[in-house]
Amino acid sequence: LVGLVALTEPARDDCDCEIPKDFDSSYFGDKFIFGTATSAYQIEGGTGSETGRGPSVWDTFTHETPGTYLRVYIGLRMAKMETWLLISIIDLKNIANVKKMGFKAFRMSISWSRVIPTGSIRDGVNDQGIQFYRNVIKEIKENGLEPFVTIFHWDTPQALEDKYGGFLCRTIVDDYQDYADLLFKEFGENVTYWMTFNEPWALSGFAYDDGIFAPGRCSSWVNRKCRAGNSATEPYIVAHHLLLAHAAAQNQRGQIGITLFTFWFEPLSNRQVDIEASETALDFMFGLWMDPLTYGQYPRRVQNLVGDRLLKFTDNEIKLLKKSYDFIGLQYYTSYYAKPNAYSPWFYIFPKGIRRLLKYTKDTYDNPAIYITENGVDNNNNDTQPVDEALKDQFRINYYRNHTWNVFKSIKEDKVNVTGYFAWSYIDNFEWNIGYTSRFGLYYVDYKDNLKRYAKDSAIWFCQFINCLIPAV
Ligand code: NOJ
Repeated sequence: LVGLVALTEPARDDCDCEIPKDFDSSYFGDKFIFGTATSAYQIEGGTGSETGRGPSVWDTFTHETPGTYLRVYIGLRMAKMETWLLISIIDLKNIANVKKMGFKAFRMSISWSRVIPTGSIRDGVNDQGIQFYRNVIKEIKENGLEPFVTIFHWDTPQALEDKYGGFLCRTIVDDYQDYADLLFKEFGENVTYWMTFNEPWALSGFAYDDGIFAPGRCSSWVNRKCRAGNSATEPYIVAHHLLLAHAAAQNQRGQIGITLFTFWFEPLSNRQVDIEASETALDFMFGLWMDPLTYGQYPRRVQNLVGDRLLKFTDNEIKLLKKSYDFIGLQYYTSYYAKPNAYSPWFYIFPKGIRRLLKYTKDTYDNPAIYITENGVDNNNNDTQPVDEALKDQFRINYYRNHTWNVFKSIKEDKVNVTGYFAWSYIDNFEWNIGYTSRFGLYYVDYKDNLKRYAKDSAIWFCQFINCLIPAV
């Protein structure tokens, strides 16, 4: 449909030469929130039945091996890691350290099947799970940090998958609403900032189109090793239910948002076909969510191209959807050139993309309040690097410096309403389909030596950037 050509060499007009030497968080003013982010499945572990937690689709996906070598590999690593991950990462010391680093906020997610083991509230709540998150949130607050809580970060309860096919079934909207309402009731006193879904695109796309995320469904013409699905229809069904579930979960006392992941798409040339290709790509990845949430309808181009495979909203659903957010969380990592008919999935760093995406969001979607809820870079899966080399991550420092500078320019010059920025991630963790080989952390975890952790140079840089009092070590 749309061709994406990777930016394999420095983009034509990208340069960090204008960044002043003294650029730091003070440029953003006191009210701006710098935070760091994590998610439940990636750091908690503690998936065993002694915790009262029910399995999620990611447990099944990482432990079951329906075909790919990668899944076997991740499965083995997960099995070894899980206990440690629960007790070590979200403990007092870590949260206190986030504070010491100078961050003002901590973004975390809640595991649905840890608080409601079968996903359906009628079957009962796991008090141990509620208590676990009560303690985590208390720690965050007591350390003077603002909790930003994601209600769902891809870990659908396995029982709902077994019962009715998870997000393929409309019933999930009601179960999700019950779950969200439970969290609002239990934790609402201490949580102001809620995010209904993390990157719904990744769920509909990676899990139901490519089959590389749990529950791993797709058409055989996409990937013969995935579970039998339908890449032509299922991503749109799932997207529809995600949107309805978001709109149903509004009954809270703070601020409600959703975090959206998109690449920025730069037309390959000034030719009209390339400009249209980039707009189409944005509509499919970003407009698919932003249009219904802002205007109550899918983007016109998506409607025209997807036709009957796109589900329709009723008048009442349109009412619920329109402006069903207080803020939008944007998760930006990279950009692609777009042109018709070609695809090349390489990763490249393009800091100006974040600024262009912010401006586009402001202009296209009625100037919403925005948090950058994720931005960061991994080690390019270089798993064989010795620890001391991995700690010298100047590339990550450059990445953060260039991207925060572009966020600053969006605020200052483009007048985009951005009020916070979260680095992904605080610490190396489980990077989904590529497991522990990909390291996004400011802190390094030595998986081969008792899971010892070390501050990377980027942790020390970030600490200084946000004016920490105690250097991060
Ligand atoms: C997207 C996700 O929200 C997070 O879980 C993931 O680890 C990062 N971005 C990096 O891929």
